[in-house]
Amino acid sequence: MAFIRENISLQPYHTFGIDVPARYFSSFRGISELQELVTESLHLPASPNQSLRAPFILGGGSNILFLSNVDGLVLKNEVMGIEKGEEDEDHIYISVGAGENWHGFVLHCIANGWAGIENLSLIPGNVGASPMQNIGAYGVELSSVFHELKAFHLREQSNYTFSKKDCAFGYRDSIFKRKYRDQFVIMRVTFRLNKKPVFHTEYGVIREELERMGVQELSIAAISQAVINIRQSKLPDPAEIGNAGSFFKNPVVNKNVFEKLKQRFEYIVGHEQTDGSMKLAAAWLIEHCGPREGESWKGFRRGDAGCHARQALVLVNYGQATGKEIFDLSEEIRISVKEKFDVDLEREVNCL
Ligand code: FAD
Ligand code: EPU
Repeated sequence: MAFIRENISLQPYHTFGIDVPARYFSSFRGISELQELVTESLHLPASPNQSLRAPFILGGGSNILFLSNVDGLVLKNEVMGIEKGEEDEDHIYISVGAGENWHGFVLHCIANGWAGIENLSLIPGNVGASPMQNIGAYGVELSSVFHELKAFHLREQSNYTFSKKDCAFGYRDSIFKRKYRDQFVIMRVTFRLNKKPVFHTEYGVIREELERMGVQELSIAAISQAVINIRQSKLPDPAEIGNAGSFFKNPVVNKNVFEKLKQRFEYIVGHEQTDGSMKLAAAWLIEHCGPREGESWKGFRRGDAGCHARQALVLVNYGQATGKEIFDLSEEIRISVKEKFDVDLEREVNCL
């Protein structure tokens, strides 16, 4: 039976490492515990003049910036288990508890020869959050291997199944980030993995790393290791410096806008998308703006809030920064990019 604790620091539960308390905190391992906690939360006292916020569902905390104390109940999803489902000649269906660590699941798949998520190696967080923003890296998005998910509706207290179409996946986007935000708890996700690997080495950096590693014969294990090496070389490790990965999405603009920008900024980085639009590298835009004319945000630090020196798209907490200090820095960056390039940056990290 799960019980609710009071005034718990969220510092160890999220990768920005900010010391904010949650008024109430608990965790659940299945539907019945979750239901009990939701029912109990209806009787919890709220702060004066405020009604208690709906429960906030926490995974690995790697895509969250807490701006202030959470005056409500935080529920950590600890639904575990990796189960084999149906299989045919080409595919295998694997159902995974939302509380399983994402990278642990990736390694499990590689060990079993199930292909499809090796390019998504070393992404922090848990399986349950992976469909939230349709995690992606190095040419692969979660949607390419997603089959379905089981979710619990918090208000109705009932179970739903979402197909791939229902999830309305987009670039770092799904229906759970929009229409259904804060309404559902994702309990299990089923993946459709390949028995015969289809290798994704379109990204130049992957090919270069495989070559550097001296890989003769391509395998999912080799791709996974190449991705791990690349990520470790440029992304800060949250165990050392607080961060939540890319703070903003890469903005998508139409080709005409890109051509005009290219005339003014010869070296601007953009990649053509299948629909002809251009995805700009937000890191380049941020690196080429700064707090003052002629300065760059890249490597900038104010107090303990900063913009990482190796990846300008990653905002960091060097120790004691508050969520508000990091958010304010992100706002300055957003405004300066808008002023210089007339391009809007949208936050990827969930700020609350
Ligand atoms: P959390 O941060 O705990 O939660 C994120 C959101 O999802 C919150 O709104 C939360 O309420 C909701 N949520 C979580 N679990 C559930 C659930 N079971 N049901 C309903 N809602 C839920 N992302 C990428 O896409 N690609 C990358 O390459 C990448 N690299 C990263 C590198 C670093 C160093 C870091 C720190 C982050 C990176 N991220 C990346 C972002 C992050 O890892 C992903 O968004 C990840 O999926 C978040 O998982 P989480 O369990 O930590 O979610
Ligand atoms: N660049 C700069 N300055 C920098 C860093 C990069 O100008 O400081 C330029 C370079 O030209 C580089 C380009 O930006 O070629 C792209 O950089 P990178 O390959 O590091 O990827 P990204 O676009 O910054 C995206 C994802 C990452 C994902 C990588 C690899 C988003 C918002 N971010 O980053 O995802 O791991 O590609 O696929 O799409 C995350 O979502 O948290 C995340 C880390």
